[in-house]
Amino acid sequence: MEDAYIIKGGRSLKGEVKLSGAKNVALKIIIAALMFDQEVILKNIPRINDVFELFNLIVSLGGKGRFIEKNTVAVDGRTISKNKIDLIFGSKIRVSFMFFAPLLYRFRECYVPNPGGCRIGARPIDRIVEGMRSLNIKVDYDSTTGYYRAVMSGEPKGGYRFPKPSHTATEFLILLSIFGRDKIILDNAALEPEIDDLINFLNSCGADIKRDKNAIVVNPVKKLVQTLPYGIMTDRNEAITYATLALATKGDITIFSVREELIKAFTDKVIKVGGGVKKISPDRFRFYYKADIRPSRVETSPHPGFMTDWQQNWTVLMTQAQGESMVVERVFENRFSYIEELKKLGAKIEYYDLKVSDPEKYFLFNYDKNKTYRQAIKISGPQRLHEGVLQVTDLRAGATLAIAALMVQGESVVNGCSIMERGYEDFVEKITRLGGDIKKV
Ligand code: EPU
Repeated sequence: MEDAYIIKGGRSLKGEVKLSGAKNVALKIIIAALMFDQEVILKNIPRINDVFELFNLIVSLGGKGRFIEKNTVAVDGRTISKNKIDLIFGSKIRVSFMFFAPLLYRFRECYVPNPGGCRIGARPIDRIVEGMRSLNIKVDYDSTTGYYRAVMSGEPKGGYRFPKPSHTATEFLILLSIFGRDKIILDNAALEPEIDDLINFLNSCGADIKRDKNAIVVNPVKKLVQTLPYGIMTDRNEAITYATLALATKGDITIFSVREELIKAFTDKVIKVGGGVKKISPDRFRFYYKADIRPSRVETSPHPGFMTDWQQNWTVLMTQAQGESMVVERVFENRFSYIEELKKLGAKIEYYDLKVSDPEKYFLFNYDKNKTYRQAIKISGPQRLHEGVLQVTDLRAGATLAIAALMVQGESVVNGCSIMERGYEDFVEKITRLGGDIKKV
């Protein structure tokens, strides 16, 4: 299997990029579509590895999920005949735990293995399991098999207050609540706009879901019916990758279509460090190199903050800044795996001790005071990086290494690009159109 990029870097990337559909909506909305008693048509779904893995999982259960056009899919949960997910399929994508929702809807009892996905921390599912229990669902874990067994004896009821918000757990508990007995309130829910896209889809099919400040209120309905195909939002993480490429390669890239408020935390930082950003129309932005980049400090946080998925790209850019920059990761406990790879190119990056008065509150993961964490880095810039042979460790790290390879003079190899292609559609084609020299081998 072709799993590496050969990149000849050092060219300024210039041109336009049309963003693909958001991975983190596509996966959830496809799973939601399994809760309909009809075929569901979804548009703007990216052709990425995670979607193909998800279809493999759906087919393994007897359901249907396939592309019927370049970015249009048809999903049908009516033929699902198994209530147990095979470990081999479940371990490939983290969202496999969301299958509790369609499987409980169809069978009232199901078996789901501990989820897989990118290794960016312990990534427990305690908030999901607690949430299910508080919605009247019985869940047990069998450590000998690695499976959760869930049983729903009546309609979901009650409510849940997240101790700390969780993006996918919020989406999952919404799905579980749709066919509840009474109104269900999910408090301290996550605020990510991808969740709102899922809510819009469900409401367009008859659901009754509203946000009320930090809570989500789900009024029960009997069934979901799709009358028109639904097109999902574009991928703001992809937007940030191309914006960073424009700045890092001293290029000029126009990105569409993305709403301003969804990337504001990023564009604000770009302006602060002296990068060029121009709003061409409400959903079209030009990012371009203007002058030397100034150093910065970024701290990741949930929406509307600077996303955890953006810090990796930002770090590469900061290797070119005129001074020392800092990046603090608050959301995941292990999202700096790409640093060792960047060091291979000559980057000077060190961890530093972050003093936080209330770490349990400050960090979004389940903080354990007996553990040692490395959540903050210092990047010395400007550093002239050179070519190298790199290994992708997780999805966002993959994009970061590709940016680095495109930025430096000379030929680099980025191994493990299929991990990056779990989330980036047509990366080679898009880079080639921007004038980059990239080949998949
Ligand atoms: N967490 C727990 N227990 C839980 C759930 C979450 O401890 O039951 C922790 C996580 O380990 C993490 C923190 O809570 O440290 C916040 O995680 P969250 O649940 O919000 O993240 P997620 O739903 O697992 C999604 C995206 C991520 C994105 C984050 C933040 C999907 C499939 N994944 O993850 O995207 O970084 O939200 O917006 O939607 C990616 O696309 O590469 C990616 C990792």
